[in-house]
Amino acid sequence: MTLRACVKGVGHYLPERIVPNAEFEATLDTNDEWIRARSGIERRHFAAEGETTSNMAAAAARAALSDAGCEADQVDAIIIATSTPDLTFPSVATMVQAELGMHTGFAFDIQAVCAGFIYALSNANALILSGQAKRVLVIGAETFSRIMDWTDRSTCVLFGDGAGALLLEAQEGEGTAQDRGILSTDLNSDGRHKDLLYVDGGVSTGTTGHLRMQGNQVFRHAVEKLASTATTAMERAGVTPEDVDWIVPHQANIRIIQGTAKKLGLPMDQVVVTVQDHGNTSAASIPLALSVGRDRGQIKPGDLIVTEAIGGGLAWGAVVLRW
Ligand code: COA
Repeated sequence: MTLRACVKGVGHYLPERIVPNAEFEATLDTNDEWIRARSGIERRHFAAEGETTSNMAAAAARAALSDAGCEADQVDAIIIATSTPDLTFPSVATMVQAELGMHTGFAFDIQAVCAGFIYALSNANALILSGQAKRVLVIGAETFSRIMDWTDRSTCVLFGDGAGALLLEAQEGEGTAQDRGILSTDLNSDGRHKDLLYVDGGVSTGTTGHLRMQGNQVFRHAVEKLASTATTAMERAGVTPEDVDWIVPHQANIRIIQGTAKKLGLPMDQVVVTVQDHGNTSAASIPLALSVGRDRGQIKPGDLIVTEAIGGGLAWGAVVLRW
Protein backbone atom coordinates (compact mmCIF):
# COMPACT_ATOMS: atom_id res chain seq x y z
CA MET A 1 0.00 0.00 0.00
CA THR A 2 1.12 3.56 -0.76
CA LEU A 3 -0.06 6.75 0.86
CA ARG A 4 -1.62 9.25 -1.58
CA ALA A 5 -2.69 12.89 -1.17
CA CYS A 6 -6.24 12.82 -2.57
CA VAL A 7 -8.56 15.70 -3.43
CA LYS A 8 -11.47 15.66 -0.96
CA GLY A 9 -12.94 19.06 -1.76
CA VAL A 10 -12.52 22.08 -4.01
CA GLY A 11 -13.85 25.63 -3.94
CA HIS A 12 -13.19 29.14 -5.12
CA TYR A 13 -14.00 32.79 -4.58
CA LEU A 14 -14.09 35.63 -7.09
CA PRO A 15 -14.62 39.28 -6.15
CA GLU A 16 -17.93 40.77 -7.22
CA ARG A 17 -16.55 43.47 -9.50
CA ILE A 18 -16.07 42.30 -13.10
CA VAL A 19 -14.02 44.55 -15.37
CA PRO A 20 -14.41 44.00 -19.14
CA ASN A 21 -11.52 44.88 -21.48
CA ALA A 22 -13.44 47.87 -22.81
CA GLU A 23 -13.14 49.57 -19.42
CA PHE A 24 -9.39 50.13 -20.05
CA GLU A 25 -10.12 52.00 -23.30
CA ALA A 26 -11.05 55.13 -21.33
CA THR A 27 -7.62 55.51 -19.70
CA LEU A 28 -5.14 53.60 -21.90
CA ASP A 29 -4.15 53.39 -25.56
CA THR A 30 -5.55 49.86 -25.84
CA ASN A 31 -8.69 48.10 -27.00
CA ASP A 32 -10.74 44.98 -26.48
CA GLU A 33 -9.60 43.40 -29.79
CA TRP A 34 -5.87 43.72 -28.94
CA ILE A 35 -6.29 42.25 -25.46
CA ARG A 36 -8.45 39.35 -26.69
CA ALA A 37 -6.22 38.55 -29.67
CA ARG A 38 -2.89 38.68 -27.77
CA SER A 39 -3.97 37.16 -24.46
CA GLY A 40 -7.42 35.54 -24.77
CA ILE A 41 -8.60 37.66 -21.83
CA GLU A 42 -12.10 39.21 -22.04
CA ARG A 43 -12.71 40.24 -18.43
CA ARG A 44 -11.27 39.88 -14.94
CA HIS A 45 -12.44 40.34 -11.33
CA PHE A 46 -10.95 43.05 -9.11
CA ALA A 47 -11.16 43.03 -5.32
CA ALA A 48 -13.26 45.73 -3.68
CA GLU A 49 -11.61 48.42 -1.60
CA GLY A 50 -10.66 46.82 1.71
CA GLU A 51 -11.05 43.28 0.36
CA THR A 52 -7.81 41.38 0.99
CA THR A 53 -6.03 38.23 -0.07
CA SER A 54 -6.83 36.63 3.30
CA ASN A 55 -10.56 37.44 2.94
CA MET A 56 -10.66 35.75 -0.46
CA ALA A 57 -8.51 32.82 0.66
CA ALA A 58 -10.80 32.19 3.64
CA ALA A 59 -13.88 32.25 1.40
CA ALA A 60 -12.31 29.74 -1.00
CA ALA A 61 -11.21 27.58 1.96
CA ARG A 62 -14.75 27.54 3.38
CA ALA A 63 -16.10 26.46 -0.01
CA ALA A 64 -13.55 23.61 -0.24
CA LEU A 65 -14.26 22.46 3.34
CA SER A 66 -18.00 22.50 2.69
CA ASP A 67 -17.48 20.57 -0.57
CA ALA A 68 -15.49 17.96 1.38
CA GLY A 69 -17.99 17.85 4.27
CA CYS A 70 -15.09 18.61 6.60
CA GLU A 71 -14.73 20.97 9.56
CA ALA A 72 -11.78 23.36 9.96
CA ASP A 73 -10.64 21.62 13.16
CA GLN A 74 -10.12 18.40 11.18
CA VAL A 75 -7.43 20.11 9.08
CA ASP A 76 -3.78 19.66 10.08
CA ALA A 77 -2.15 22.30 7.89
CA ILE A 78 -2.89 25.27 5.65
CA ILE A 79 -0.54 26.25 2.84
CA ILE A 80 -1.26 29.43 0.92
CA ALA A 81 0.48 30.31 -2.31
CA THR A 82 0.50 34.06 -2.75
CA SER A 83 2.73 36.95 -3.82
CA THR A 84 0.24 39.55 -2.60
CA PRO A 85 -0.06 38.98 1.18
CA ASP A 86 -2.18 41.36 3.28
CA LEU A 87 0.90 42.29 5.33
CA THR A 88 4.61 41.51 5.13
CA PHE A 89 3.95 39.21 8.07
CA PRO A 90 2.29 37.27 9.62
CA SER A 91 1.51 34.86 6.81
CA VAL A 92 -1.85 34.97 5.07
CA ALA A 93 -2.15 31.30 6.05
CA THR A 94 -2.16 32.09 9.79
CA MET A 95 -4.76 34.82 9.17
CA VAL A 96 -6.96 32.30 7.38
CA GLN A 97 -6.34 29.76 10.14
CA ALA A 98 -7.75 32.27 12.65
CA GLU A 99 -10.65 33.22 10.38
CA LEU A 100 -11.64 29.57 10.03
CA GLY A 101 -11.51 29.07 13.81
CA MET A 102 -8.75 26.46 13.48
CA HIS A 103 -6.57 26.64 16.59
CA THR A 104 -4.34 23.59 16.12
CA GLY A 105 -2.00 22.39 13.38
CA PHE A 106 0.18 24.79 11.40
CA ALA A 107 -0.08 27.28 8.57
CA PHE A 108 2.40 28.97 6.26
CA ASP A 109 2.70 30.80 2.93
CA ILE A 110 4.64 29.84 -0.18
CA GLN A 111 5.88 32.44 -2.65
CA ALA A 112 6.65 31.16 -6.12
CA VAL A 113 4.54 33.73 -7.99
CA CYS A 114 2.44 32.14 -10.77
CA ALA A 115 3.96 28.70 -10.07
CA GLY A 116 3.01 29.06 -6.39
CA PHE A 117 0.09 26.65 -6.41
CA ILE A 118 2.22 23.91 -7.99
CA TYR A 119 4.86 24.47 -5.29
CA ALA A 120 2.15 24.44 -2.59
CA LEU A 121 0.64 21.20 -3.91
CA SER A 122 4.06 19.59 -4.01
CA ASN A 123 4.77 20.64 -0.40
CA ALA A 124 1.36 19.46 0.79
CA ASN A 125 1.99 16.14 -0.92
CA ALA A 126 5.34 15.81 0.87
CA LEU A 127 3.74 16.58 4.26
CA ILE A 128 1.08 13.95 3.66
CA LEU A 129 3.45 11.26 2.33
CA SER A 130 5.83 11.79 5.28
CA GLY A 131 2.98 11.43 7.77
CA GLN A 132 3.29 15.00 9.10
CA ALA A 133 -0.27 15.89 8.12
CA LYS A 134 -3.39 13.95 7.20
CA ARG A 135 -5.49 16.80 5.82
CA VAL A 136 -4.01 19.90 4.18
CA LEU A 137 -5.85 22.91 2.81
CA VAL A 138 -3.91 24.15 -0.22
CA ILE A 139 -4.96 27.61 -1.32
CA GLY A 140 -3.91 30.03 -4.06
CA ALA A 141 -5.06 33.62 -3.45
CA GLU A 142 -4.03 36.91 -5.02
CA THR A 143 -4.92 40.59 -5.25
CA PHE A 144 -2.66 41.46 -8.20
CA SER A 145 -4.81 44.56 -8.83
CA ARG A 146 -2.89 46.14 -5.92
CA ILE A 147 0.50 45.85 -7.67
CA MET A 148 -0.51 47.01 -11.14
CA ASP A 149 0.93 50.11 -12.76
CA TRP A 150 -2.31 51.46 -14.25
CA THR A 151 -0.33 53.48 -16.80
CA ASP A 152 1.42 50.39 -18.22
CA ARG A 153 -0.87 48.91 -20.88
CA SER A 154 1.46 45.95 -21.44
CA THR A 155 0.78 44.54 -17.94
CA CYS A 156 -2.28 46.04 -16.23
CA VAL A 157 -4.78 44.53 -18.68
CA LEU A 158 -3.49 40.99 -18.06
CA PHE A 159 -4.03 40.31 -14.36
CA GLY A 160 -6.97 39.72 -12.01
CA ASP A 161 -7.89 38.82 -8.43
CA GLY A 162 -9.36 35.67 -6.90
CA ALA A 163 -8.77 32.57 -4.82
CA GLY A 164 -9.15 28.81 -5.10
CA ALA A 165 -8.65 25.99 -2.62
CA LEU A 166 -8.26 22.22 -2.49
CA LEU A 167 -8.59 20.03 0.57
CA LEU A 168 -6.14 17.14 0.28
CA GLU A 169 -6.51 14.05 2.46
CA ALA A 170 -4.20 11.05 3.02
CA GLN A 171 -5.65 7.87 1.56
CA GLU A 172 -4.19 4.43 0.90
CA GLY A 173 -3.48 3.62 -2.74
CA GLU A 174 -2.09 0.60 -4.57
CA GLY A 175 1.05 2.42 -5.68
CA THR A 176 -0.02 2.37 -9.33
CA ALA A 177 -0.94 5.11 -11.81
CA GLN A 178 -4.58 4.06 -11.32
CA ASP A 179 -4.55 5.47 -7.77
CA ARG A 180 -6.51 8.58 -6.95
CA GLY A 181 -4.51 11.55 -5.65
CA ILE A 182 -1.19 13.15 -6.51
CA LEU A 183 0.89 10.76 -8.62
CA SER A 184 3.94 12.94 -9.26
CA THR A 185 5.35 16.44 -9.01
CA ASP A 186 8.15 18.35 -10.75
CA LEU A 187 9.54 21.72 -9.56
CA ASN A 188 12.09 23.98 -11.25
CA SER A 189 13.46 27.49 -11.00
CA ASP A 190 16.20 29.50 -12.69
CA GLY A 191 17.00 32.80 -10.97
CA ARG A 192 19.07 34.00 -13.90
CA HIS A 193 15.75 35.13 -15.38
CA LYS A 194 14.66 37.13 -12.33
CA ASP A 195 14.55 40.41 -14.30
CA LEU A 196 11.92 39.19 -16.79
CA LEU A 197 9.07 39.45 -14.30
CA TYR A 198 9.32 41.14 -10.92
CA VAL A 199 7.84 43.76 -8.58
CA ASP A 200 10.04 46.84 -8.15
CA GLY A 201 9.29 47.22 -4.46
CA GLY A 202 9.29 45.34 -1.17
CA VAL A 203 10.37 45.57 2.44
CA SER A 204 13.92 46.71 1.74
CA THR A 205 12.78 49.49 -0.61
CA GLY A 206 10.02 50.70 1.69
CA THR A 207 7.46 50.62 -1.14
CA THR A 208 4.94 48.08 -2.35
CA GLY A 209 6.12 48.51 -5.92
CA HIS A 210 4.53 47.57 -9.23
CA LEU A 211 4.69 44.54 -11.46
CA ARG A 212 7.23 44.81 -14.30
CA MET A 213 7.35 42.29 -17.11
CA GLN A 214 9.14 41.67 -20.37
CA GLY A 215 6.09 39.83 -21.68
CA ASN A 216 7.54 38.61 -24.95
CA GLN A 217 10.64 37.24 -23.17
CA VAL A 218 8.50 35.38 -20.62
CA PHE A 219 6.45 34.05 -23.52
CA ARG A 220 9.60 32.68 -25.17
CA HIS A 221 10.38 30.52 -22.13
CA ALA A 222 6.83 29.53 -21.29
CA VAL A 223 5.73 26.93 -23.84
CA GLU A 224 9.02 25.05 -23.89
CA LYS A 225 9.42 24.93 -20.10
CA LEU A 226 5.76 24.05 -19.45
CA ALA A 227 5.75 21.20 -21.97
CA SER A 228 9.05 19.95 -20.57
CA THR A 229 7.94 19.96 -16.90
CA ALA A 230 4.58 18.36 -17.78
CA THR A 231 6.41 15.62 -19.70
CA THR A 232 8.78 14.98 -16.77
CA ALA A 233 5.87 14.78 -14.32
CA MET A 234 3.99 12.37 -16.61
CA GLU A 235 7.06 10.14 -16.93
CA ARG A 236 7.44 10.11 -13.13
CA ALA A 237 3.78 9.15 -12.76
CA GLY A 238 4.14 6.38 -15.34
CA VAL A 239 1.51 7.87 -17.66
CA THR A 240 1.54 9.15 -21.25
CA PRO A 241 -0.42 11.99 -22.89
CA GLU A 242 -2.90 9.37 -24.19
CA ASP A 243 -3.84 8.58 -20.56
CA VAL A 244 -4.56 12.23 -19.72
CA ASP A 245 -8.17 13.45 -19.43
CA TRP A 246 -7.48 17.14 -18.71
CA ILE A 247 -4.68 19.65 -18.80
CA VAL A 248 -5.38 22.35 -16.21
CA PRO A 249 -2.77 24.98 -17.05
CA HIS A 250 -1.87 28.23 -15.33
CA GLN A 251 -4.15 30.76 -17.00
CA ALA A 252 -1.87 33.55 -18.22
CA ASN A 253 -2.36 33.68 -21.96
CA ILE A 254 -4.46 31.55 -24.35
CA ARG A 255 -1.58 31.40 -26.83
CA ILE A 256 0.73 29.86 -24.20
CA ILE A 257 -2.04 27.43 -23.23
CA GLN A 258 -2.61 26.42 -26.87
CA GLY A 259 1.12 26.14 -27.62
CA THR A 260 1.72 23.90 -24.60
CA ALA A 261 -1.25 21.64 -25.39
CA LYS A 262 -0.03 21.29 -28.97
CA LYS A 263 3.48 20.41 -27.83
CA LEU A 264 2.05 17.76 -25.52
CA GLY A 265 -0.10 16.41 -28.38
CA LEU A 266 -3.41 17.09 -26.63
CA PRO A 267 -6.42 18.82 -28.25
CA MET A 268 -7.87 22.02 -26.77
CA ASP A 269 -11.12 20.23 -25.86
CA GLN A 270 -9.08 18.47 -23.17
CA VAL A 271 -7.85 21.73 -21.68
CA VAL A 272 -9.70 23.60 -18.92
CA VAL A 273 -9.65 27.27 -19.97
CA THR A 274 -10.78 30.12 -17.71
CA VAL A 275 -8.37 32.86 -18.80
CA GLN A 276 -11.14 34.67 -20.72
CA ASP A 277 -13.09 35.23 -17.49
CA HIS A 278 -10.37 35.58 -14.84
CA GLY A 279 -7.27 36.97 -16.56
CA ASN A 280 -4.01 35.94 -14.92
CA THR A 281 -4.68 35.46 -11.20
CA SER A 282 -1.13 34.18 -10.58
CA ALA A 283 -1.08 31.52 -7.84
CA ALA A 284 -4.90 31.46 -7.73
CA SER A 285 -5.35 30.53 -11.38
CA ILE A 286 -4.94 26.75 -11.12
CA PRO A 287 -7.20 26.13 -8.11
CA LEU A 288 -9.74 28.51 -9.69
CA ALA A 289 -9.59 26.52 -12.94
CA LEU A 290 -9.88 23.20 -11.07
CA SER A 291 -12.92 24.45 -9.16
CA VAL A 292 -14.62 26.01 -12.19
CA GLY A 293 -13.72 22.95 -14.32
CA ARG A 294 -15.36 20.68 -11.74
CA ASP A 295 -18.43 22.94 -11.49
CA ARG A 296 -18.78 22.99 -15.30
CA GLY A 297 -18.88 19.18 -15.26
CA GLN A 298 -15.57 18.89 -17.15
CA ILE A 299 -13.50 17.33 -14.34
CA LYS A 300 -14.98 14.11 -12.91
CA PRO A 301 -13.86 11.62 -10.25
CA GLY A 302 -11.16 9.34 -11.64
CA ASP A 303 -9.98 11.79 -14.32
CA LEU A 304 -6.22 12.04 -14.86
CA ILE A 305 -5.13 15.68 -14.69
CA VAL A 306 -1.86 17.35 -15.63
CA THR A 307 -1.52 20.81 -14.14
CA GLU A 308 1.40 23.13 -14.93
CA ALA A 309 2.52 26.73 -14.32
CA ILE A 310 5.37 29.17 -14.89
CA GLY A 311 6.00 32.62 -13.46
CA GLY A 312 8.42 35.09 -11.94
CA GLY A 313 11.79 33.71 -10.91
CA LEU A 314 11.51 32.08 -13.33
CA ALA A 315 9.84 29.30 -11.37
CA TRP A 316 7.86 26.53 -13.01
CA GLY A 317 6.54 23.04 -12.41
CA ALA A 318 3.83 20.44 -12.92
CA VAL A 319 1.72 18.02 -10.91
CA VAL A 320 0.00 14.88 -12.19
CA LEU A 321 -3.01 13.83 -10.15
CA ARG A 322 -6.04 11.62 -10.45
CA TRP A 323 -9.19 13.48 -9.31
N1 COA B 1 -2.86 47.32 -26.01
C1 COA B 1 -2.35 47.66 -27.21
N2 COA B 1 -1.06 47.49 -27.54
C2 COA B 1 -0.25 46.96 -26.62
C3 COA B 1 -0.71 46.58 -25.34
C4 COA B 1 -2.07 46.79 -25.05
N3 COA B 1 -2.62 46.47 -23.86
N4 COA B 1 0.32 46.10 -24.65
C5 COA B 1 1.39 46.13 -25.44
N5 COA B 1 1.05 46.66 -26.64
C6 COA B 1 1.91 46.90 -27.79
C7 COA B 1 3.36 47.04 -27.44
O1 COA B 1 3.65 48.33 -26.97
C8 COA B 1 4.03 46.71 -28.74
O2 COA B 1 3.99 47.87 -29.52
P1 COA B 1 5.25 48.27 -30.45
O3 COA B 1 5.38 47.13 -31.40
O4 COA B 1 4.79 49.55 -31.06
O5 COA B 1 6.40 48.41 -29.50
C9 COA B 1 3.10 45.69 -29.38
O6 COA B 1 1.86 45.79 -28.68
C10 COA B 1 3.63 44.29 -29.30
O7 COA B 1 4.08 44.04 -28.00
P2 COA B 1 4.63 42.66 -27.53
O8 COA B 1 4.97 42.73 -26.10
O9 COA B 1 5.70 42.17 -28.48
O10 COA B 1 3.33 41.78 -27.79
P3 COA B 1 3.11 40.24 -27.57
O11 COA B 1 2.51 39.65 -28.77
O12 COA B 1 4.33 39.59 -26.98
O13 COA B 1 1.98 40.21 -26.47
C11 COA B 1 1.77 39.83 -24.12
C12 COA B 1 2.17 40.80 -25.22
C13 COA B 1 2.14 40.46 -22.78
C14 COA B 1 0.29 39.57 -24.20
C15 COA B 1 2.57 38.52 -24.30
O14 COA B 1 3.92 38.79 -24.46
C16 COA B 1 2.40 37.60 -23.15
O15 COA B 1 1.32 37.19 -22.82
N6 COA B 1 3.54 37.20 -22.56
C17 COA B 1 3.54 36.29 -21.47
C18 COA B 1 3.09 37.05 -20.30
C19 COA B 1 2.70 36.16 -19.22
O16 COA B 1 1.94 35.26 -19.41
N7 COA B 1 3.22 36.48 -18.07
C20 COA B 1 2.86 35.87 -16.88
C21 COA B 1 3.54 34.59 -16.78
S1 COA B 1 3.01 33.98 -15.30
